[in-house]
Amino acid sequence: MREIIHLNDSWHYYEHVNENDINSLKENNSVLVDIPHTNKVTEYNCFDEKKLEFISCYKKSILIHEGFKDKTILLCFEGVMAYAKVYVGGRFVGEHKGGYTPFKFEITEYINFGKETQITVVVDSTQRDDIPPFGNVVDYLTYGGIYREVFIEVAEKMYIEEVLVSTENVLSEQKKVLVKATINYKDMPVKDYYLILMVLKEGLILKNTRKKFNVTGTGRNSILAELEVSNVDHWDIDNPTLYDVAVIVGCRKTLFDERDYKIGFREANFTPEGFFLNGKRVKLVGLNRHQSYPYVGYAMPKRVQEKDADILKNVAGVNIVRTSHYPQSRHFLNKCDEIGLLVLEEIPGWQHIGGSDWKEVSYNDVRDMITRDYNHPSIVLWGVRINESGDDDAFYKVTNEIAKSIDGYRQTGGIRAIEGSNLIEDVYTFNDFIFGGGEKILRNQKEVTGKEELVPYMVTEYNGHMFPTKSFDHENRRVEHSLRHLKVINKGMGDDTICGTIGWCAFDYNTHFEFGSGDKICHHGVMDMFRNEKVAIGAYKSATENGLDTFMDITSLVSRGEQNEGFDGEVVIYTNCDYIEVDFDGERLGRFYPDKDNYENVKHAPVFVRVATVKKLEGKALMDYLYSKKCVMIFDGYKDGKKVLSKTVGGNVYASELVVEADDDTLKSTLPTYDATRVRVKALDNRGNPLPYIIENLDVEVHGVGELIGPSRISLIGGQIAFWVKTIRKSGDITVHVNSVRFGEKKITITVD
Ligand code: GAL
Repeated sequence: MREIIHLNDSWHYYEHVNENDINSLKENNSVLVDIPHTNKVTEYNCFDEKKLEFISCYKKSILIHEGFKDKTILLCFEGVMAYAKVYVGGRFVGEHKGGYTPFKFEITEYINFGKETQITVVVDSTQRDDIPPFGNVVDYLTYGGIYREVFIEVAEKMYIEEVLVSTENVLSEQKKVLVKATINYKDMPVKDYYLILMVLKEGLILKNTRKKFNVTGTGRNSILAELEVSNVDHWDIDNPTLYDVAVIVGCRKTLFDERDYKIGFREANFTPEGFFLNGKRVKLVGLNRHQSYPYVGYAMPKRVQEKDADILKNVAGVNIVRTSHYPQSRHFLNKCDEIGLLVLEEIPGWQHIGGSDWKEVSYNDVRDMITRDYNHPSIVLWGVRINESGDDDAFYKVTNEIAKSIDGYRQTGGIRAIEGSNLIEDVYTFNDFIFGGGEKILRNQKEVTGKEELVPYMVTEYNGHMFPTKSFDHENRRVEHSLRHLKVINKGMGDDTICGTIGWCAFDYNTHFEFGSGDKICHHGVMDMFRNEKVAIGAYKSATENGLDTFMDITSLVSRGEQNEGFDGEVVIYTNCDYIEVDFDGERLGRFYPDKDNYENVKHAPVFVRVATVKKLEGKALMDYLYSKKCVMIFDGYKDGKKVLSKTVGGNVYASELVVEADDDTLKSTLPTYDATRVRVKALDNRGNPLPYIIENLDVEVHGVGELIGPSRISLIGGQIAFWVKTIRKSGDITVHVNSVRFGEKKITITVD
């Protein structure tokens, strides 16, 4: 049976190399690094992104046991940005173009069994014209390096290369599981072989079947098998039930290989009348995710990738994510399966279509994305166009054909920004940036498609560059940012011809100089680069019935001097409470309900508290009134007639506390690579509210069995910050100290098991 040898530890890394010199590189000119690795650690912002573009080299010696001589040895890379050339034992094995898809080589004949064999990977992280997304400008950084995991698979002479698992008749009691397993074999004598297909739940076999097949010699074949199951639950957003599928190949006496997959029974349909999951209409409300992080770009391990899915579903409360603009980590997608977060996954690219070599890479991207991710129930749509490119029917006919030839079940889309573009896909997916704060919030679908009839239609971006907003921007801007998001969501939810709206974007991201705020950051996120919330996250939390705990986000500081001419007495509140009782300077202002008149389609409309309306005051009279007050407001949130939350805002507030919290108390030392978690730091005032304008430096020290990712001297940004701490493959304690002049020392401990 297959054995996995993880190759993530201790690679010799040579930062700037000339490809001709790779055989004469001196080990003492290298540094030892672990995978995921970024070719160059950056600053948080304001850096020269050109410094990420160079050729580097990674070397590692491996020792493969003599007992493995008769096996098939496969060297597997999950993601190398952007072009890799692989040598084993000094001989060239193969190359791979594209930074977002996995690749593997059979290296059996290159191995010196029982002795050391050197693996050398030359990594070109420049923006080569022959690889998407490159060839023109791109609004995000692509970083560089071997940034996803590397491993060796030791397989038998016959092994399972890939398995595509489909489900049919999902809405009936008897459901079908169909498997297409691609078997690779070498020098096999004529024999009867079999494939076993099992469906399991928590280790118990629900059903299995056995299929005979005959192969001989050397080759590659696809074997089909199917079985029926009943009494199984659907996979859906609220109840994402997963089952296990095991596929085994063998002959009478021997098992050769087994592959296991998680699957879900669900039927997803984009229609002209909206999106349906298992026959029920679901209003899709989502966010776009870039997979980048501060300092280390794309290089973050499993737990951190998973956390993003968790944040999107359980903090932002969205039900769909778009992996803009490329296939993302399998760990992220696995988590989406596990928690019930729908996914639109798309091929790499940004506005530009290159020449024929470039297109070949793009075709491979379609193939590799779909074969890698076929079995994820969370993925409901393949994006097979280059984000926001023009029409190129010949090109997109091929990308669609490739998609359909692999996956006859899922629909395709492709993200456009031009009206009336040719629809080759199943779903017209469109970035609608019409809303700039004026009357028009979304185009209607026929206006965009230019078609007489309705088609399946979804909005895949809005807002973004129309209203960049930093977490330390002026209060009015931060509130306006949130309302702009909410207005689009509300509009989309009220229109059944729009399957959903996916906002730009989840997290701020580093970018090229042509974009962003002059600091190499697009401040477009409803969260910052550290995944700390901005005010705008309230719009997403409020949109659907998403099972979030009770929340009441008061978006104002109720500060007398923050606004032009002073506090005007209006406070916007995002909440899932039924109503809010408000007290102003010890006097009851009234009971305030969600504004269903203006936000009629979202589940929880925001609550607007307006002192002016209650007091029937305006202009100078209002200002005189407000200036005669201390402006302390108490908000009591009620659900089912009971007070469930209370917050006091305004008056004499001052910094009072620094909260330091890790996302995880416990990490693991035994994973295939290092583990990591985020530590969040937040300054609060004496009433427990955020302090978006505080300036405070922090010194971070990490002791014990961990290391800090990024700089040790940081400052609060918008009243909060975070950093990541990684393990060093030892168990014990990691202690994290955060020191600041104002707050003194805060210490937390993370255990590594
Ligand atoms: C879109 C693009 C995104 C991002 C966004 C900013 O046009 O698809 O990648 O650049 O604009 O608003």
